[in-house]
Amino acid sequence: MSPLPDDTEALDALARHGAQSTRWAGRPLAFVQQTGSTNDDVRAAARDGAEHGYALVANAQTSGRGRRGRVWHSPVGANLYLSLLVRPRITVEESPMLALVTGLALARAVDRFVDARGVTVKWPNDLRIQRKKCAGILVEGAVREGVLDTAVIGIGLNVHRRDWPQELSGIATSLEEHTEQNLSRASVLIAVLEECERAIDAMLLGGSAKRALIEALASRCDTIGTRVDVDGVVGIASGIEDDGALVVRCDDGSVRSVRSGEVR
Ligand code: BTN
Repeated sequence: MSPLPDDTEALDALARHGAQSTRWAGRPLAFVQQTGSTNDDVRAAARDGAEHGYALVANAQTSGRGRRGRVWHSPVGANLYLSLLVRPRITVEESPMLALVTGLALARAVDRFVDARGVTVKWPNDLRIQRKKCAGILVEGAVREGVLDTAVIGIGLNVHRRDWPQELSGIATSLEEHTEQNLSRASVLIAVLEECERAIDAMLLGGSAKRALIEALASRCDTIGTRVDVDGVVGIASGIEDDGALVVRCDDGSVRSVRSGEVR
């Protein structure tokens, strides 16, 4: 097994100098060598008043979490483990959009680094390269008076990792498996922050900016046009609604909108 490139110092330096190319995402940006879960840390920071855009990146996590209580393997120096705090003030009904637009942002960021075609979003929260999972998104929000007051967007993006445990082999991939370039996690992080800012701004702006975002999402979403079973809703996924719901044409002829769940 070849050793991981040591781009840790570059991540640390990026955090010390701050993200220069964004207006709010990653301003400020903090770096830690190891923590339990960056989502837990950023949720705590949000309770202490951290501002929209605050982000934390870790070199390793000891209790990285995925959706549905799953473990997110977070080995030292291998990948990006990032949490971004946003204070979107959108309605609870609109909140599934956040994970989706983050998926689109990741796809756009990843396009800058991989030679591969087939960088897609699997509804609602996975980034895939050639149908293998390259990143996962875990959004944890706090609602106040019917609006999403704070949301912590947790992003686990596989960058360098090539050795997969048996349960992930064949279904997981990393950027490095799809490029000849030597990647630096710091450069990937800058791209992720830039694209998250662009996509979230468009979502919050609404109107034509949001419609363009949904169109871009629909054309990137590899779930659309396929047969799905979303927690018992079975049929063909046919589109994404303005609030991020997946439209499913069910086998019984009905059309259902699914706001959350796991696609099988
Ligand atoms: C999933 O696909 O199930 C979502 C995975 C999200 C993992 C990231 S890593 C950074 C942040 N901290 C965590 O504990 N989880 C998220």
